[in-house]
Amino acid sequence: MKRNYHEKVIDHYENPRNVGNLPKGDFDVGTGLVGAPACGDVMKLQIRVGEDGVISEVKFKTFGCGSAIASSSYMTERVKGMTLEQAGAVKNTEIAKELCLPPVKLHCSLLAEDAIKSAIKDYQTKRAKRTAPATPPPSASATAQTAVHA
Ligand code: FES
Repeated sequence: MKRNYHEKVIDHYENPRNVGNLPKGDFDVGTGLVGAPACGDVMKLQIRVGEDGVISEVKFKTFGCGSAIASSSYMTERVKGMTLEQAGAVKNTEIAKELCLPPVKLHCSLLAEDAIKSAIKDYQTKRAKRTAPATPPPSASATAQTAVHA
């Protein structure tokens, strides 16, 4: 591997940052799970978001090439402390530039961009469900009308 990768990729590959899982069921955790159809690599990236809307914790697990592992490791460091809007704006081109990825490995960094976007979307969906008003039970008159028409 060392022959083909930049030293920054090797550093993240050999010492990946923020590897692990966050409890998927926690209301303040968003999970992004994405795959690259071309190569079959899979990346899971999770964020924990504070009440202030800032990402306080990030974890990842990647089954894939060295560039994908390095991209996800870098992404976890990059977005920690960011707002969701800022994190959603991190582009794969920035990751590829930082890690000096060759063009043939651009899709590996795209996986990390897709993963953070997916995690943000999952968190926002969860939050919307939590804050949505509960569906009111059918009113007594509606129930009575149903009974009349039945
Ligand atoms: Fe598929 Fe890198 S070769 S993500």
